[in-house]
Amino acid sequence: MIKINSSSGVSSTGSVAAAPMNAVMPLFAVFAVTLILICLSIQPAVAEEVALSAVQNQGKQLAFERSKGNCLACHQMADGALAGNVGPPLLQMQARFPDRAVLREQIADARIRNPGTIMPPFEAHGILSAEEVDAIVEYLYAL
Ligand code: HEC
Repeated sequence: MIKINSSSGVSSTGSVAAAPMNAVMPLFAVFAVTLILICLSIQPAVAEEVALSAVQNQGKQLAFERSKGNCLACHQMADGALAGNVGPPLLQMQARFPDRAVLREQIADARIRNPGTIMPPFEAHGILSAEEVDAIVEYLYAL
């Protein structure tokens, strides 16, 4: 039998089941608030990851387009579908290619680093213009 007492909320007689419930409610509130705060702090980080600048978007389009870079034929890249695995996955580009010129050269003419490469020398063979290679480099640095 549970009796409500105006001063303490619950009387001591027979209130065994009600007491733990009262102790749990503040804990639940703290848990809910913490969960909301965690969600709010994660949200901007996720949004930042997908936000590309205009030139990075242009580079992505050029890299994915079959009649242009068609990089997906050989490389796994972020959200690119049906990627091939002839070349290595393009990940962590800024950390692995801190020198922008080295990364640019790999796309402009891969034969400079590896004379026997099967990667097309995109700029040297006129598949991509200098500006198009620059835009792709910008996009790769977002990966
Ligand atoms: C026909 C397959 C093929 C295509 C298409 C291709 N690549 Fe490659 N790529 C390779 C191979 C193979 C390598 C490994 C190094 C080598 O042999 O030159 C490579 C290496 C690279 C590397 C160096 C990666 C590392 O981790 O060392 C970068 C960067 C790169 N490619 C970017 C691109 C970009 C950007 C495009 C599109 C514009 C592209 N590739 C298109 C085959 C390809």
